[in-house]
Amino acid sequence: MQKRGYFITSEGPEGAGKTTVMNLLGDKLKEEGYDVVMTREPGGIMISEKIRNIILDNEHIMMESRTEALLYAAARRQHLVEKVQPAIDAGKIVICDRFIDSSLAYQGFARGIGVQEILAINKFAIGDTMPDKTILFDIEPSVGLARINAHKNREKNRLDVESLMFHEKVREGYLSLADQYPERIEVIDASCSVETVLEEVYKVIKSQLEIIR
Ligand code: TMP
Repeated sequence: MQKRGYFITSEGPEGAGKTTVMNLLGDKLKEEGYDVVMTREPGGIMISEKIRNIILDNEHIMMESRTEALLYAAARRQHLVEKVQPAIDAGKIVICDRFIDSSLAYQGFARGIGVQEILAINKFAIGDTMPDKTILFDIEPSVGLARINAHKNREKNRLDVESLMFHEKVREGYLSLADQYPERIEVIDASCSVETVLEEVYKVIKSQLEIIR
């Protein structure tokens, strides 16, 4: 039988703490002996990091929304074939900070391009590779944005500086995706402490890994 790993993605609005918590989760799983690959979108490999810089550059205020959506999908494609898929095929656990649901919530829903349109270009980019489990870090956008502003060292990119209304739509988009894909998407209350959120996420992921191993 072909060896297959496990594909986990983390999603959520800005300032939800997903990167911190997922890094801690990755460390915990590695300590337990799991072979874990941590990566992120847009980025994770050279070409996609370069595309990331183009998308998020604060000077690129003239970028049209479909151009933005296509660039995310292009970065996703290259990252998938170069890094994510080979790792899954080698039996590893891949933890990816953002994936298709970001495009569906940000470009499809909040930018108003349409979820079906974004799904279509992403199907072209990723084929049938969907996450086995997605953790949605849910938080009030005002709380998330306040967390970002409290971290003065964190650079604010082109999407961070969007209006509160935009971020509220992103959240709405995510929650409707969670309703649509209840088997795959697990909603976690990200307003709690890092330790509490980590515990919740660990419980969800560990139970899944025990089922497949
Ligand atoms: P990050 O801040 O989590 O690294 O993500 C970069 C930004 O890109 C963030 O504002 C969310 C946004 N984004 C999209 O709008 N669509 C996407 O498909 C992805 C992956 C990210």
